[in-house]
Amino acid sequence: MRLFIALDIPDDLKRTLGNLKADVPGLRWVPPGQIHLTLAFLGEVEEPALAGLAEAVANINLPAFDLHPVGIGCFPDQRRPRVVWLGVQPEPGLMNLAAAVRTTAQSCGIPLEERRFSPHITLARLKQPPGAAFRTFLEQHRHVAPPPFSVREFTLYQSSLDRSGARHTPIRRYRLA
Ligand code: 2AM
Repeated sequence: MRLFIALDIPDDLKRTLGNLKADVPGLRWVPPGQIHLTLAFLGEVEEPALAGLAEAVANINLPAFDLHPVGIGCFPDQRRPRVVWLGVQPEPGLMNLAAAVRTTAQSCGIPLEERRFSPHITLARLKQPPGAAFRTFLEQHRHVAPPPFSVREFTLYQSSLDRSGARHTPIRRYRLA
């Protein structure tokens, strides 16, 4: 199973993001129901390892926190954008949770990508080099600051790939203290 651990985004933020959605050629917007903040992408995990992982993650005991979204940008950079994201301030609560989730996954024998955790909420993906409309869109939204929201839980998801793209199914939700 292909797994990842993520924070869900409140519906009112999803609506705000839906309103930002501009008609920029070449951008494939993430369907609102699928917008999330990935804490750790675990990749393929064999079914027998799942129970141990789900239990180990349940032992994470960290407090709830507020998340402050800020600024739209892109990865890897503006000249060759592949992913358009909404940034979030790297609150200690978020960074500690991501670190705990990652350490826990590794302790269950799941290798993670070496890349440093860079918190973001993916809004759109693109394959082609974008044109002027994209630069205008980024310019307009570089400093957006939607209202903060509180994070009280996180979720282990299965991602299934089918013809219409990825489908995300929650496997287990975990409450923060
Ligand atoms: P994202 O957080 O930038 O959107 C589920 O596939 C989620 O895990 C995606 O939202 C994705 O990126 C994140 N992810 C991180 N590394 C990935 C990888 N190598 N392949 C697929 N998804 C990955």
